[in-house]
Amino acid sequence: MDSLFTLSGKTILITGASSGIGRATAVLCAKMGATVILVARDEEKLNQVRSMLEGSNHICKIVDFADYDSVESLVESLPIVDGVVNSAGINNKYLIKFVDEVKMDNMFKVNCFSPALLIKHLLKKKKLAKGSSIVFLSSISSTYATISNALYAASKGAINSLTRVLALELSSMKIRVNSIQPGMVNTEMVKAYGLSEEELEANAKSYPLGRLGKPEDIANGIVFLLSDASCWITGISLIIDGGVTLR
Ligand SMILES: NC(=O)c1ccc[n+]([C@@H]2O[C@H](COP(=O)([O-])OP(=O)(O)OC[C@H]3O[C@@H](n4cnc5c(N)ncnc54)[C@H](OP(=O)(O)O)[C@@H]3O)[C@@H](O)[C@H]2O)c1
Repeated sequence: MDSLFTLSGKTILITGASSGIGRATAVLCAKMGATVILVARDEEKLNQVRSMLEGSNHICKIVDFADYDSVESLVESLPIVDGVVNSAGINNKYLIKFVDEVKMDNMFKVNCFSPALLIKHLLKKKKLAKGSSIVFLSSISSTYATISNALYAASKGAINSLTRVLALELSSMKIRVNSIQPGMVNTEMVKAYGLSEEELEANAKSYPLGRLGKPEDIANGIVFLLSDASCWITGISLIIDGGVTLR
């Protein structure tokens, strides 16, 4: 039974591996036996994460999701992979009256279009093994409205739709496609919101399970979706949110 949950022998590509949820996922994937390809813009941080991983042969790749050419070049340099985790993402908050075309383009490029292009290039260059598993990071914001979050919420709603369509399109290759919708998780992204300790505590209290998420809470779900233990699950968006959307 244990072996169903292992990632031994699998190569897993993780974008956004330099920080937060992507970093915790890289650590857990390596612990579960995978060879990890760590992807982000910041080379120094990626190297630090690589030094935290169990095992050897893990590699770092630099890519900027705001630059489509860099996504294609990344794929050219890759070996065949058995799993993809798309954790790269940004969340800049604007009231709709302050949104402009540049902000819209950037949000959708990084959060949705480059992740979609990544999968397209992996398929075209035959770099996705039969039976592989793709996990996108969506968010509870895709269905749970908060002020100033229109662009981010829309980009994550698009990820939910992408997940379902790709799950159907790739099912003939036995490639599974799922997404995760985290609630608020203590990472650099949340630190950048600039909330005070009191505000964070008030937020935590609104969670039925009594605290905000840790990156590891999300990594646990991702690794399950990467493993053969989830081999009959495709097209879902798994909510991991300490129960906050129950209210
Ligand atoms: N934290 C939360 O509460 C929360 C909740 C729901 C969903 N999520 C989603 O979970 C994912 C991970 O978030 P996190 O909280 O772990 O955030 P984080 O700590 O800020 O990490 C974001 C990652 O994305 C990478 N990234 C950002 N812009 C990029 C670009 N242009 N090209 C390539 N990589 C880029 C960053 O690496 P570099 O800066 O090195 O490029 C970093 O590794 C995101 O998709 C986010 O939307 C987070």
